[in-house]
Amino acid sequence: MKKLLDLISEEMMQAFEAAGYDRELGKVTISNRPDLCEYQCNGAMAGAKTYHKAPIMIASDVAGKCEGSAVFSSVEAVNPGFLNLKLKGEFLGNYLQEMEREEKFGLPKQEKPLKIVIDYGGPNVAKPLHVGHLRSAVIGESIKRIARYNGHEVIGDIHLGDWGLQMGLIITELRERKPELPYFDDDFTGEYPKEAPFTISELEEIYPTASARSKEDPAYKEKAMDATFKLQNGVRGYRALWDHIIAVSVSDLKKNYEKLNVEFDLWKGESDVHDLIPDMVEYMKKEGYAHESEGALVVDVKEESDTKEIPPCMILKSDGASLYNTTDLATIRERMEKIDPDRIIYVVDKRQELYFTQVFRCARKTKLVKPDTGLTFVGFGTMNGKDGKPFKTRQGGVMRLEDLLNDINEQMYNKMISNHEIPEEARKEAKEVAAMVALAAIKYGDLSNQAGKDYIFDVERFTSFEGDTGPYILYTIVRIKSILNKYAALGKKIPDTGIRKPEGEAEKELMMSLSGFISMMQAAWEEMAPHKVCAYIYDLANSFNHFYHETKILQEEDEEKQAGYIALLKLTKEILETCIDVLGFAAPERM
Ligand code: ARG
Repeated sequence: MKKLLDLISEEMMQAFEAAGYDRELGKVTISNRPDLCEYQCNGAMAGAKTYHKAPIMIASDVAGKCEGSAVFSSVEAVNPGFLNLKLKGEFLGNYLQEMEREEKFGLPKQEKPLKIVIDYGGPNVAKPLHVGHLRSAVIGESIKRIARYNGHEVIGDIHLGDWGLQMGLIITELRERKPELPYFDDDFTGEYPKEAPFTISELEEIYPTASARSKEDPAYKEKAMDATFKLQNGVRGYRALWDHIIAVSVSDLKKNYEKLNVEFDLWKGESDVHDLIPDMVEYMKKEGYAHESEGALVVDVKEESDTKEIPPCMILKSDGASLYNTTDLATIRERMEKIDPDRIIYVVDKRQELYFTQVFRCARKTKLVKPDTGLTFVGFGTMNGKDGKPFKTRQGGVMRLEDLLNDINEQMYNKMISNHEIPEEARKEAKEVAAMVALAAIKYGDLSNQAGKDYIFDVERFTSFEGDTGPYILYTIVRIKSILNKYAALGKKIPDTGIRKPEGEAEKELMMSLSGFISMMQAAWEEMAPHKVCAYIYDLANSFNHFYHETKILQEEDEEKQAGYIALLKLTKEILETCIDVLGFAAPERM
């Protein structure tokens, strides 16, 4: 289905042509003076020079050709030469009827859907998820869903940090504490226990302890490096221990991501490409891409047009160890071989931008990807506290994501029950509803900002039921559901279609807001901008609430008119629900 704006432009282009002017001048935009008109066309101004005519004369000629138009109810030529446009109610009503009937409200199908890998989340195993991980998960999940809604095939990969020194540190600390475990006995040939020798809370304590010790005690660090080496070279007991670390950690991560309504298709990690590194290094050497520099192996990635220094991409350190970017490059190689995506998108802290510039250039230069494979970095800013500094606990420590979520769930619950008694049996549902609203508050609070910008995590504002917030959007959806339920309770059938032409201004405004869905959804994908979805639904929710306050819906006596309203409400609800689904949250039945 065509975008509304394109249909309107088409009509205006015909008018320009009919009046003897270049049709290209007929492009229409949304009005920047909504008090005067709904849409506008500035083509007469642009054409003045070519036609040696005053713009107002051109505009008047064109307006004359619009008489009897099926699209416009009014076309006004105003000084110095603008065309102010208003839509015909019937035209708008017909457009919405088509949206009601079409799949995905008429969003055009992709002629050639892309295969896309999206790399987001990126937690490190054995370390608790903290607020720093929130943005990657929330933004990545939304971009994934927006891309899918637009018809692409998208594979989300968590890309765990599960390799390297952090693993050696944990193993070393365990060995110090429980040297009797069979994993440390070189002569042990039996089967290792199925049960991990630690719980997740122990694991989360072990890592920071080990990390602190290694900074003070060089001999300890030496041991950790040795353990890392042994692990990476497949020493049996260490591999078995590593399997336990991953299993315990991943099941905890899954639980946490589930609470965030974030799902990954692939739970791959840095460790998965470990065995592929030697071959890749060989290839880079053989093809002459990599060269030695002060003992290390590097690939130069600077380009002539660079305005700032882009350092070479280091593939191996002088001791032969691989690095963070070696695993990223090997992962690209593996993805190309196994998945062959058209595009890979990374949703990572914007402080890693330079790093990804190096990795992408290196991948292109060494032909790990095809010339037309897209490599996109979506960098996000920092989540700050009200003091403008990175968000911390009240004690000034790093806030665990789990604690943050529990905290906000509880605040939300207290807020929702504050003005009425909740009977015992209804508490469970109330808690579930509070959790849904809390998630909407957090996600909307994050996503409504442009991803690249830092933002202030302001719990009071985010959890408010008024203003540009998640709870306000949910509240609006619940309000519509309640009207639809009441209508059905009157014994009337909710129509699938049947939107009519608007009766008044508020209804027209709501309808125009709905008509912008397709272009918003396409732009949100092209610009990878969930904040566009937020801005759209905020505007839509406002238009709906305005209409709701101006209109008697359930008391309307004219049945046909009432059915038209109900159809309009149903479309509004469906579009709002679709939008929050791509943002990664859902609305309860009541609240
Ligand atoms: N684990 C990394 C970190 O904590 C983030 C991973 C980002 N993704 C990637 N492919 N490098 O910084």
